Amino acid sequence: MEGTSHCLIFLIFLLSCSTDPVLPVRLTVSPSRSQFFLYEPVILTCEDENRSDGWTVRRNTSREIRNRCGDGFGNLAVSTCTISYLFPSDTGLYWCESMSGSSSSSSSIQLSVSGGSVILQSPVLPVMEGDDVTLSCRAKNPTHNLPAAFYKDGSFIGDETTGNKILNSVKKSDEGLYKCNVKGHGESPSSRISVKEKPPTTSPPSSSSSPPSSSSSSSGEQLLLQL
Ligand SMILES: *[C@@H]1O[C@H](CO)[C@@H](O)[C@H](O)[C@H]1NC(C)=O
Repeated sequence: MEGTSHCLIFLIFLLSCSTDPVLPVRLTVSPSRSQFFLYEPVILTCEDENRSDGWTVRRNTSREIRNRCGDGFGNLAVSTCTISYLFPSDTGLYWCESMSGSSSSSSSIQLSVSGGSVILQSPVLPVMEGDDVTLSCRAKNPTHNLPAAFYKDGSFIGDETTGNKILNSVKKSDEGLYKCNVKGHGESPSSRISVKEKPPTTSPPSSSSSPPSSSSSSSGEQLLLQL
């Protein structure tokens, strides 16, 4: 908890000191995962600090480009886009953009809708270096977890009788495309896991190895961009 509050204070410090434009909006997904079964619902929300309602969700799919929520897919209400029944053709890259069409937009999120009976439940937003990440392989029927095989970038990384694979203390090298397979049920789509660097710690103030201010400000910028 103490670490979290340090982190928050650090972020607030960065936000108040930065002269660079801060990403004003971010896209959140509920339920928070990147893969869905056919006919599942999803709610996409554009969140910004000013709670403005001037955002819309756009997407790129294999069929359309810059498609706007409420105009061909989903229903838009106050910066929230609801898709009641997902189809495999809803697979694509989603992001928030201001209604006015000005340049501000969020980072994008990849959503995949499986036409089959297996999905991988993985974090849809970038995870922090050092976090433990649980990958859960879910079959449509039965809904309880079955033994599953996991793959990263096409290579087998292990069987798990529980259907859950835990990546302990993730590193940058854990980034990649993950999928899973349940015997007799099939394979999930692939989803990317992104790992963001931990902000530099400020705890040992007398440390001789503390980075020069120029490099700490550039990693600060990087952190802001990833928010
Ligand atoms: C959507 O597709 C267009 C055209 O290919 C591309 O210019 C744009 O960068 C894409 N958007 C995202 C968020 O990737």
